[in-house]
Amino acid sequence: MLKNTRATDPVLAGLLDEELSRQEHNIEMIASESTAPLSVMELTGSVFTNKTLEGYPGRRFQAGSGIADKVEELACERARELFGAEHANIQSYSGSTANYSVFASVLQPGDKVLSMRLDQGGHLTHGSPANWVSKIYHFEFYAMDPETELIDYDALEAKAREYRPKLIIAGASSYSRLIDYERIANAAHEVGAYFMVDMAHVAGLVAAKVIPSPIPYADFVTSSTTKTFCSARSGMVFCKEKYAKMLDKGTFPGAIGSIQLHTMAAKCWSFKYAASEEFRATMEQVVKNAKCLAEELTKYGFRIVSGGTDNHLLVADLRAKKITGKDFQNALDAVGITVNKNMIPFDPEKPSVTSGVRIGLTAVSQRGLKEPEIREIAAIMNKVAEAPNDEENIKACREQAQALIAGFPLYPAGSFED
Ligand SMILES: Cc1ncc(COP(=O)(O)O)c(C=O)c1O
Repeated sequence: MLKNTRATDPVLAGLLDEELSRQEHNIEMIASESTAPLSVMELTGSVFTNKTLEGYPGRRFQAGSGIADKVEELACERARELFGAEHANIQSYSGSTANYSVFASVLQPGDKVLSMRLDQGGHLTHGSPANWVSKIYHFEFYAMDPETELIDYDALEAKAREYRPKLIIAGASSYSRLIDYERIANAAHEVGAYFMVDMAHVAGLVAAKVIPSPIPYADFVTSSTTKTFCSARSGMVFCKEKYAKMLDKGTFPGAIGSIQLHTMAAKCWSFKYAASEEFRATMEQVVKNAKCLAEELTKYGFRIVSGGTDNHLLVADLRAKKITGKDFQNALDAVGITVNKNMIPFDPEKPSVTSGVRIGLTAVSQRGLKEPEIREIAAIMNKVAEAPNDEENIKACREQAQALIAGFPLYPAGSFED
């Protein structure tokens, strides 16, 4: 796949080789990651990269759009069918841009938004002080119940009534439980707010129908198309038909410029693939593997936030193991297991240290790992946590992790040979 780059820029080609090797030999457990199928790789590198196009099928700003129109129409039709949505806009470049396009559609400067606390699972684009959105709109946050570590729905409803936001956002980066979309939709509609669900993390599980869908309840549903959806680095938004014009205008020209047709083509392929039995079975295994890891780690004395998981990820509280999120992340990295440090609800540690790690099961499940391998990974994680500074221990764990993953190739042999 890199024949021309090898000839024109061997230094860069070498870095690509190194990255392929890193992914091949590591156990990737970053919850927002997945492995793009080869067709997605091909299509994101396709001739559609060359075409500049703005607007919508039949209403383009540039000529030469006939074929691209067919791709966008096909992709939207497949997306609507897959998710059972009334309207799909798949022009967003990413999950973040998908959120911005909804904000551009429904909010005016100064409007109020209610979203999940960022240190308890919310996303940057849901109102972080570091993100531009917080300079334009007023964000208020809802939180977890400290006992159950689940969304405190009573408090959310009370905040909605007191604060009367224009928009309520559900969906998270590190929430391992199902969200009661119906209840939040009712809270939003009672105060005249729009309800948006950001399903960036769980879109693949929703598409495969292994967890409930937000589509029937939310006015807008945004998403990345990476993460569990396993497609191109891009985005998508769904809405009720009555908001279709508003969303299309908020997306283009409201939030983006020309379409990335190459990723749109890849998404089009994925909307078909995600309806397959192969994808459904993979997503089902993702959830089984996540539950298995949560149970095994609990046996080893880790505390799993909220007591378990219903989706592709879990957050482990490491305090009983006397190691911080930062140190555990680094020790696992040395072993070839990639996770990220993560705040636990009401974390006493700083965000740069944390008491927890977030672990995702999508990429390993795509490679074919099932419960026996997940149990072995839990055992390795425990050994690492017990003696993170013992070089012999880390070396032995690294060998064990490499031997484990060697039996499950990232891509079929020869996929990237020139
Ligand atoms: C809940 C949520 N929304 C949006 C995003 C942003 O998605 P992207 O990286 O595609 O912009 C993320 C990324 O992790 C996320 O977790």
